[in-house]
Amino acid sequence: MPQAPAPNLIGTSVPRIDGPLKTSGTAKYTSDHNFPEMLYGVPVQATIGKGKIKSMDVAEAEKMRGVVRIYRYGNAPKLYRPNGQDENAHVDETRPPLEDEVIYYNGQYVAMVVAETFEQAKAAANKVHVEYASETPNVALDLSDGFNDKMKEISKRGDVDAGFANAAVKVDYTYSTPIETHNPIELHSTVAVWDGEKFKLYETTQSIMNHQAAMAQMLGVPKENVQIVMKFLGSGFGGKLWPWTHDVLAAAAARDLNRPVKVVIDRRMMFSNVGHRPRTQQRIRLGATAEGKLNCLQHDYVSDTSILDEVSEDCGEATPYIYSTPNLRIRGEMVVRNVGTPTAMRGPGAVPGLYALESGMDELAIALKVDPVQLRLMNEPEIDESNGLPFSSRHLKECLTTGAEKFGWSKRNPAVGSMKRGDLTLGWGVACASWIAMRMPCKTSLMLNDDGSARIACATQDIGTGTYTIFAQVVNAKTGVPVEKIQVVLGDSSLPPGPVSGGSWVTGTVIPSIANAADNAEKQLIDLAVNGTRSPYHGRDPKELAFSEGRIHLASEPASSGIAFDELLRKGSLRFIQADGDSMASFADPNANKHSLHSYGAQFAEVEWDPGIARLRVSRVVSVIDVGKVLNPRPARNQVEGAIVMGIGMAMFEETHYDPRNARPVNSNLADYIMTTCADCPEIDVTFLDYPDKVLNEFGARGVGEIGLAGVAAAITAAVYHATGVRIRNLPIRIEDLISGSSNKQHFA
Ligand code: MOS
Repeated sequence: MPQAPAPNLIGTSVPRIDGPLKTSGTAKYTSDHNFPEMLYGVPVQATIGKGKIKSMDVAEAEKMRGVVRIYRYGNAPKLYRPNGQDENAHVDETRPPLEDEVIYYNGQYVAMVVAETFEQAKAAANKVHVEYASETPNVALDLSDGFNDKMKEISKRGDVDAGFANAAVKVDYTYSTPIETHNPIELHSTVAVWDGEKFKLYETTQSIMNHQAAMAQMLGVPKENVQIVMKFLGSGFGGKLWPWTHDVLAAAAARDLNRPVKVVIDRRMMFSNVGHRPRTQQRIRLGATAEGKLNCLQHDYVSDTSILDEVSEDCGEATPYIYSTPNLRIRGEMVVRNVGTPTAMRGPGAVPGLYALESGMDELAIALKVDPVQLRLMNEPEIDESNGLPFSSRHLKECLTTGAEKFGWSKRNPAVGSMKRGDLTLGWGVACASWIAMRMPCKTSLMLNDDGSARIACATQDIGTGTYTIFAQVVNAKTGVPVEKIQVVLGDSSLPPGPVSGGSWVTGTVIPSIANAADNAEKQLIDLAVNGTRSPYHGRDPKELAFSEGRIHLASEPASSGIAFDELLRKGSLRFIQADGDSMASFADPNANKHSLHSYGAQFAEVEWDPGIARLRVSRVVSVIDVGKVLNPRPARNQVEGAIVMGIGMAMFEETHYDPRNARPVNSNLADYIMTTCADCPEIDVTFLDYPDKVLNEFGARGVGEIGLAGVAAAITAAVYHATGVRIRNLPIRIEDLISGSSNKQHFA
């Protein structure tokens, strides 16, 4: 007789299990770790953007109180490049710090002072005198030198040039997005402990496993000699995916001096040494029939990278599959600038890419005189036309129609400047969102204890998004153990290896691994039930038994008729059973491989434009998100709301400015780098469609960290056009553009 499904907490707003630790201030973040005899490292930054160190005078600094060592080129411990053999040892800035006297970017570390206290190290760092042979750096904003015949082809079908030539209505515009810097409140930090043989490194990282492998290679030691710990992260947004140069400097200093070393970089270093979202310039060429059927889509993009490393912003990520069109070509290229190495920022590639593509779609809708929601509905593909695969679960049309309904889109008068609220002009805009869905390989370890509690362990991490709670919910659903009796242990590389907290894939990844561990636990419990001499099921056929709601019972009887697993363990004098879980990546899964896996969304934005005082405000955002089954609506909503706030920053405020004379980030602090504050936040209305995507895992959850940012900036600039008639093709929106009425001004220094 089939069992009625046990009630579980999947899809309910279980409060964060780590909430009390955070609200009581007892959650230990990386820089909260202190050790006896611990030293402090403070890096010294280059003040030029390109050139060489001529000389460095450390005599004064070395004599200062508390100074233990000043590392620089010539006396720095030997460090190594990642050898490229292990894809799980990724580093974006690959040059070992202090390797030579060449300056590649402003802010590059040229020395690190190690002292007894932070203040002593900081004071001495200010007294390290460096003379440079300076050259003129290149931080040119115009990236059009990258648009050339050598552009790499990313995706192609049909013939875009023929499609464009034959189109009844066409648009062809170039869009740009600026360098944006990650500004999590928690500064990057590391506390390195060396015990004479092994490293224990407390790190601010979104991937303890990658960090372990990468640090081992850069320190030149076997991986098993490096342990990484990260229990709580004050956000990362991609900037903490991979190790940065301060990490290896601290570890090498700890080994060299045989004392723990703490390095917490400052906000200014956050702007030069730990990555940023690169600048992009993107050409979108669209052609359509007179009715609005797309017949060509061309997306060419260029992003800037550092002298040292090639890190590309893959703006064409969502372009191949989002719309139906017979002719498509996507090409990408990088150009080199004297900036630090870029890195992934929330929704890398797709987010700036969709700003350009969705802006182009809005311009096409206007050229066609077709409603922008209708234009998208009209160009919905049946399958993923880039590879011929069916979508695992795609509800983009419903995102658009539900969003239009909630927003009141039918009341929109398309005429520019026609909608008013008192003295204010209203603008309404829409854009679509998409993001990858993926699973990575994952191992977990589940213990069921004789007191009825459970423990789940995995070397992944909670970066502030709610991963601890998701683990507890899934264990609860699979075993029946109440959430308050489940201990979730993450954030330590000595645990079974789990995924990077990136790509929005942790939730989707851990479900099958935990399910596999629970299945293995069930086998062990049934084995114990039929073999244990004191078990009520001693001697039964294992096939007759089942494990549900925390009880072993006859499969033909309800769970309540059976024996609780903890009682069974006590009868067998066992403290616990321990079961391993293992699951594979979606790209290795023959079924997942037969599908195109993505999340979708529709963003609707309202702006208020006050022409009297040239004031622009985002007043309302309606977001409808299709991320499969939502395991826990509260933190999921929190992710999307936060992403929308970040999207307002992308549209309106965020831009890192570099001084062309010395390539120095000028606004490298939280006062001058403008971000969305509470006062800038509109009403935000988030809806989840909640269709399970069973191709990805049994609950159908895809993960929700990045999708909420996609489309937001394009919806806002579409709304700005609707209000003002000014098309913003270069982010962020500037008041001077709105006043001048100029639609295509390039802000090139
Ligand atoms: Mo995300 S940029 O993959 O941390």
